[in-house]
Amino acid sequence: MIIRPRRLRRNKKIRDLVRETTLNKNDFIMPLFVDENMEGKNKREIPSMPNQYRFSVESAIEECKEIADLSIPAVILFGIPKNKDEYGSSAYDKNGVIQRTIRGIKNELGDELLVIADTCLCEYTSHGHCGILKDNKVLNDETLNILFKIALSYAESGVDIVAPSDMMDGRVRVLRNTLEENGYYDVSIMSYASKYASAFYGPFREAAESSPKYGLRDRKTYQMDPGNWREALREIELDIEEGADMILIKPGLPYLDILRLAKENFNVPIGSYCVSGEYSMIESASQMGWINREDAIMETLLSIKRAGADFIITYWAKEVCDCLL
Ligand code: PBG
Repeated sequence: MIIRPRRLRRNKKIRDLVRETTLNKNDFIMPLFVDENMEGKNKREIPSMPNQYRFSVESAIEECKEIADLSIPAVILFGIPKNKDEYGSSAYDKNGVIQRTIRGIKNELGDELLVIADTCLCEYTSHGHCGILKDNKVLNDETLNILFKIALSYAESGVDIVAPSDMMDGRVRVLRNTLEENGYYDVSIMSYASKYASAFYGPFREAAESSPKYGLRDRKTYQMDPGNWREALREIELDIEEGADMILIKPGLPYLDILRLAKENFNVPIGSYCVSGEYSMIESASQMGWINREDAIMETLLSIKRAGADFIITYWAKEVCDCLL
């Protein structure tokens, strides 16, 4: 007798019946770039990321209404400020681009949409690093002294979740203490616990103008080495100890093993960030006619969920949720 697993693949109905992993709208977070240099209702397509836009504050708020209408639970915001300096001080300006956007979205939508703010310096510093740069070194503790101001100003603007993505040591503790001391008990911390020094952030850095600009040209002294997995467990353990409510593994597809390990070892919600490079690779290959775009997108997202993601940050969130029930 031949044992026949193929019996359960015979047609779509039976495949759907036995499918172990499915995607639904609640799985997704949509990233948005908000550019302080853009006026009125303007938005501009990002050359390195087809179909993704830089929004003005006003058009970002409009976009969020569409996102909420699709029943997507959350957006994550990235800001492009008018002014950059060595210390990234526009990141904690009460009237900064993200602060205004958070207030605007919350005014319009309240609890209809969760607002997550990426909490990092790289879009706000003149040198493009995620921390304070001195003598070609990114300084850890000096950076923490700025990060807490950013998180506090996001909390004051009404943010639901702050997402520190800088990879400085001790940042989650500093943010948690700041939020507690100021009475923001309900603001969650989604920490980028395992963020690798990846080549797949390329298109994002063009979109957010956040490439390291001089001297130290990469982020290898603070983001993780792609060869390591035990270190990821250590980073996650520390962030949970320090007060993170949820953690992220980033990038997505190249780090599915880390995602699975995290799922098996920790009990907090775990997200995967399917990053700009993953997005643009599929977009460009499908523009060339080399892969089927929709199939490649769905397979990518399904694989990330199968590996263990409780939620996925993806530039396809809006499009995918438009097709999902
Ligand atoms: C900020 C940040 C980056 C991304 C998210 N937050 C860029 C970086 O670390 O250089 C990348 C996201 C993407 O590539 O889609 N530190």
